[in-house]
Amino acid sequence: MNRRITVHIEASRPYDIIIGRGILTESGERIRTVLPKVQKIMLVGDDITAGLYGKNVVDSLTEAGFSVVQFIFPQGEANKNITTFAALLEELATAGLTRSDCIVALGGGVVGDLAGFAAACFLRGIDFVQIPTTVLAAVDSSVGGKTAVDLSCGKNLAGAFHQPSLVLCDPDVFATLPHRIFSDGCAEIIKYGFISDPALLEKLSHTDVYKLQAGDAIEEILADCVRDKAVYVTADEQDRGIRQLLNLGHTIGHGVEAASDFAVSHGSAVAIGMHLVTCGAVKKGICPPETLQLLEKLLAAYDLPMVCPFETQTLYSAALSDKKRAGGMITLVLPTAVGQSQLFPMPVEELLPFLELCLSDI
Ligand SMILES: NC(=O)c1ccc[n+]([C@@H]2O[C@H](COP(=O)([O-])OP(=O)(O)OC[C@H]3O[C@@H](n4cnc5c(N)ncnc54)[C@H](O)[C@@H]3O)[C@@H](O)[C@H]2O)c1
Ligand SMILES: [Zn+2]
Repeated sequence: MNRRITVHIEASRPYDIIIGRGILTESGERIRTVLPKVQKIMLVGDDITAGLYGKNVVDSLTEAGFSVVQFIFPQGEANKNITTFAALLEELATAGLTRSDCIVALGGGVVGDLAGFAAACFLRGIDFVQIPTTVLAAVDSSVGGKTAVDLSCGKNLAGAFHQPSLVLCDPDVFATLPHRIFSDGCAEIIKYGFISDPALLEKLSHTDVYKLQAGDAIEEILADCVRDKAVYVTADEQDRGIRQLLNLGHTIGHGVEAASDFAVSHGSAVAIGMHLVTCGAVKKGICPPETLQLLEKLLAAYDLPMVCPFETQTLYSAALSDKKRAGGMITLVLPTAVGQSQLFPMPVEELLPFLELCLSDI
């Protein structure tokens, strides 16, 4: 029997995240245990995740006695939209799912966000289970209950808080991830370390991205990340206070993504964002230089970029349109020591000089 690590999330709806190699083939029995009344399951995947792992999951679900229908859409952020969302809702209705049935999301953050939002809305809310297949989804998007689709004006502008009933994470599926996508997910892992987990930073310092993708250390590291996220989700489920610490590198990162017209991937943009704010924090004298040195060492070891390809003004305009802005204030997350970060709310006018400081040569 392979090792299983369970992390419990005590959110408004408590649930477990179970991590372990080969757990995909146990999905039927594990869902049956948590949701005994479910008869029909809508398995949602994109063409890649459904193609690679759909059969394994369908076999396991069928064996456990579920009747399974599938919704498969073309991969990519461009399809995390209202059109795909509406098509999924129509399929759920056509297939006759009831309030005691459930949706299973098999994929990365795009699949999880879309399927989760449909679960939040269909019949005013049905159960859903996350089976994350990217590192980013495993450590971040599958946990915490944020679901959304993009609108033409921006990312994640329509969504809901809807916690899953179970998260099943099988690191074996990372073997088929393109290295760039694996590495990108590692930016989120590094983020948890710099927010509040010096022990995780220590572990990450002793490995590199190739060893992590091929080796055994990943399960423990995924568990560390979701335990870290659980603390913030439990304390601030609706993201109005302390949960904002999870945005380390993201306000600027979203700016980099937007300014590049999404040519820079999310993980790479977050890496650049973390580097930029850490430079700023060191220059402001609120963070010791060793923190920046460790961040640079880890970003290099995990094949992640750090140099911002944009000018201050471009970044400023793009960062200002981030939806995390509230009224005239923007809250930045800045590292203050190795494995420690704090929230710094500031009037938006102060963001430009701060960015200038971050990007300056001194
Ligand atoms: N809800 C949240 O809290 C939250 C948090 C962070 C990010 N997100 C969202 O997550 C999304 C990004 O997620 P992502 O990075 O997982 O992207 P993604 O879902 O688009 O996956 C990236 C690519 O990898 C492919 N893929 C997935 N698993 C694979 C596997 N095992 N083997 C081979 N290929 C595989 C996908 O088909 C896709 O082409 C964004 O839409 C973002 O807004 C949500
Ligand atoms: Zn992120």
